[in-house]
Amino acid sequence: MMKVLIALFVVVFVDVVASQCTCENMKWAVCDGTPCQCTILVDEGLKQPIDCTTLIPKCFLMKAEMYRARTGQSTRSIAGKPVETALVDNDGIYDPECETNGRFKNVQCNKTEECWCVNSAGVRRSDKGDKNIKCETAETYWVRLELKHKEAAGLDAVKLRTGIENALQQRYKLDKSFVSEFQYDKDGRLIVVDIKKKIGESLPDLSRMAYYMEKDIKVLPLFSNTTPFEFSVEGSKVSMEKILVYYVDDKPPTITMQKLTGGIIAVIVVVSLIVIAGLLIMFFLARRQKALYSKAQPREMETMS
Ligand SMILES: *[C@@H]1O[C@H](CO)[C@@H](O)[C@H](O)[C@H]1NC(C)=O
Repeated sequence: MMKVLIALFVVVFVDVVASQCTCENMKWAVCDGTPCQCTILVDEGLKQPIDCTTLIPKCFLMKAEMYRARTGQSTRSIAGKPVETALVDNDGIYDPECETNGRFKNVQCNKTEECWCVNSAGVRRSDKGDKNIKCETAETYWVRLELKHKEAAGLDAVKLRTGIENALQQRYKLDKSFVSEFQYDKDGRLIVVDIKKKIGESLPDLSRMAYYMEKDIKVLPLFSNTTPFEFSVEGSKVSMEKILVYYVDDKPPTITMQKLTGGIIAVIVVVSLIVIAGLLIMFFLARRQKALYSKAQPREMETMS
């Protein structure tokens, strides 16, 4: 009981002290000083200064998350590609190398000898190679968000689009004009939102918004104010249960099919087996049919004559 009270007191006390200088856009940030300076811990004793007036670069956040995972603190836990070359972040989290401005370096090695190329969202876009791998800069200019909303009555595409655009604007500070496409499948509760910027432009960094949203839906908000991500559609709240993000770069990725992951190989094997089984069944059915037909034929002839 006493311990709980002390813990409670400490929490309240820390809250009061911190309230003068806090980081709205990053709950793990530690801030102090005048002027207020905020940092996040990205490695043992390594404090990355961050600008809390915008969403924090994904590279810094991923680094902080890897550090938190290593040290046993909280971590992360999942209708089609917009184009054939779109990338999905199947590899999951790694310990990234960041430029001083928070951009992912083009080559990433996760502190091992094995390296690969990433795009501006830190998503792998090449096969894995050694430390000498050569990578070009690739900017993700288009992200497709595939969202599934929880049961809700009275929704339609127009109302949903407005609700989501407002949420993007208010929560992630993303201007509505970047929403290029919106599709809604009412029965599947599936929403597809395409967010695109002009090729060649560096802002906005679409990976930040996508990362914050993924966290909002899959785990917990990254914002200090951890009220869950919901958006209002004519006064009622709608929340999401699933998100899948596709990344499209200004240059096609160089991933080949050589290194298929176990899951994909398993799917290919199962599909092939089903196809072979189907062909065999069709073959035997055809043979039986033929046998029956050739037996029936003479009898039919007899009755006719
Ligand atoms: C990076 O390394 C960590 C362990 O150090 C591992 O858990 C993680 O899966 C690796 N990520 C990738 C993408 O290789």
